[in-house]
Amino acid sequence: MSETIQTLLSESRTFAPTSQFTAHANLKDPSIYAHALADVNGYWENWAKELDWFEPWHTVCEWNLPDAKWFVGGKLNACYNCVDRHVEKGNGAKIAIVWEGEPGDTLSLTYSELQDRVAQAANALKSLGVGKGDTVCIYLPMVPELAISMLACARIGAVHSVVFGGFSSESLHERINDAGCKIVITADGGWRRGSIVALKKAVDDALEMGTPTITNVLVLERAGDPGRMQENSTVRDYNRGTWKAGRDVWWHELVSAQSKDCPCEPMDSEDLLYILYTSGSTGKPKGIMHTTGGYLTGCYATSKWVFDLKEDDLYWCTADCGWVTGHSYVVYGPLANHATVLMYEGAPDTPDKDRFWRIIEKHQVTILYTAPTAIRAFMKWGTEYPERCNLTSLRLLGSVGEPINPEAWMWYHEHIGHEKCPIVDTWWQTETGAMMITPLPGITKTKPGSATHPFPGIQAVVLNDAGQEITPDYVPGTTYGEAKGGYLAIKGTWPSMLRGIYGDPERYKNTYWSRFPGYYFPGDGTKLDEDGYFWLLGRVDDIMLVAGHNISTMEVESALVDHPAVAEAAVIGKTHELKGQAISAFVIIRGGYLESTGVSAEKLVNELKDHVASKIGPIARPDDVILSGDLPKTRSGKIMRRLLRDVAEGRALGDTTTLADPAVVASLKDRYESQEG
Ligand code: WT7
Repeated sequence: MSETIQTLLSESRTFAPTSQFTAHANLKDPSIYAHALADVNGYWENWAKELDWFEPWHTVCEWNLPDAKWFVGGKLNACYNCVDRHVEKGNGAKIAIVWEGEPGDTLSLTYSELQDRVAQAANALKSLGVGKGDTVCIYLPMVPELAISMLACARIGAVHSVVFGGFSSESLHERINDAGCKIVITADGGWRRGSIVALKKAVDDALEMGTPTITNVLVLERAGDPGRMQENSTVRDYNRGTWKAGRDVWWHELVSAQSKDCPCEPMDSEDLLYILYTSGSTGKPKGIMHTTGGYLTGCYATSKWVFDLKEDDLYWCTADCGWVTGHSYVVYGPLANHATVLMYEGAPDTPDKDRFWRIIEKHQVTILYTAPTAIRAFMKWGTEYPERCNLTSLRLLGSVGEPINPEAWMWYHEHIGHEKCPIVDTWWQTETGAMMITPLPGITKTKPGSATHPFPGIQAVVLNDAGQEITPDYVPGTTYGEAKGGYLAIKGTWPSMLRGIYGDPERYKNTYWSRFPGYYFPGDGTKLDEDGYFWLLGRVDDIMLVAGHNISTMEVESALVDHPAVAEAAVIGKTHELKGQAISAFVIIRGGYLESTGVSAEKLVNELKDHVASKIGPIARPDDVILSGDLPKTRSGKIMRRLLRDVAEGRALGDTTTLADPAVVASLKDRYESQEG
């Protein structure tokens, strides 16, 4: 970690917003930080008043650590705030969603059209017996029906649990059962890199494994629809052959037949809006719970100020709705702001590596929000791709998901923003619901690689090992004397904070509230520099961040051990130029396995990689698998991952004196280096 701190320390370039940007910015007065801090509840209450409520709250906030309630007693509906209220105010003719499929098909929906489609989908859900409080699993590609399904759930008070379409049937199975979902909404398939992701097949396999709460599967015909671009007959034939009458229902048959009249259910501010699973260090994914009033307030406020959303913007967040970024910043935040949102189904390199830039040029995108892993890939592909396109419509750029290294920041600034677009590097988490540490584009002087300052109303501090605050609250313009590194922690509560882990209140307390009593601990290390800028240093525990996605070492280890050849496995994330981290697995093979099966070591390595990909999803496929005789363990039997990281990253070995058998790690190092070469 000390190496990272030094590289970051040497970064002294600053970029102030242009006077032109500031002149038109939604927010230009830096005194907001001090005002928000002076009356945090009053500040958030003013934000909540910008939403439409059926009934007002009686108490702004009830805070009994670690349980928060916001806008207590208030009633509202998230779908109403994202869709209906705009139509009712006479603003229904504006485009809400511009969608582009990977094969090149497009669709635009105005807010009025979106309202009709959401109402029909909501009535379809009701006709399948879904009501207030029921949970719906959504397993769809990035098509408009994904946003429509989420909003339809919100409309009738059902809880959605979106599972990323890249997850395997096993992951889907586990998530469906943990949340006790009543139905699954899926598609026959979605397009990714020129081929079909067979979603319905994965759902069939998941249900085959046993999902007692599921009654129906609602299936959108995307890939096999002869009316769509590039109809895929294999998918269509699969569906015809495996259709389960009574259980499986076509979207186009059920939804289009519904009435466009479906009232929005008045929900309590603290009613559950959704569950979203995120990886945990013990292997079992955590169902993060978000409720209605506070969550929507946080998404609305941050979208308005951080993206500086205006009526004529065309806003594009490239995240899939399977991740929290897609929840907060494809659907809830921007739509609550009456923005026009672009959705793209496919890969950035299909048909060519200029796809993103073509989309920006074609639709005149003004705001782009993407991830460092994508930016690093673009850098590697070269500037010729963005140079082919006219990107002058862009006026603001954003980054999220992991630390963006200064080199990537500068590339983004020069080659995409043409040195005129502010960059907002936004730090937050599935658990925080909305952005927490981020520049305000009309105010903040940015530094490449720093997420800068806490959003107004958020109190972030740096703690030392003993849990003492080593930094004061951020006050703009303050000089801090010297840079300080430690653990990031949040004081107090904030409206979009998670309300717990579904079905596991103990784990909620242990994970976030026990390491530093009195604070929310996100698990990240950070440094606060002499100017009061936060530099996020990544997770301090053993969760890997691969291409912007959190994958727990334990999950991958469990998947490996699941294979008959594997006795034991230890997994680490090693620094990777493009993905942030790549997965390296050290595996002990069961004695005699290779001899008795006749499988070669080389073949087994590939088999193990495939096995992990099929158990968890392709994103978790290890880059390397090292077959080993033993693993470095402490005397108490704990695997020393730190040493494995040293091995994988080719460093000199750290202290090995606490090991039960120091020779193990030296022989591993030899083996790793010979296998690599
Ligand atoms: C973790 C949260 C937030 C949506 C996507 C990921 C890392 C996220 C940044 C950033 C440095 C970042 C942190 C955080 N992270 N954004 N701008 N700078 N690190 O959501 O899967 O819940 O992961 O991603 O380590 O804790 P998530």
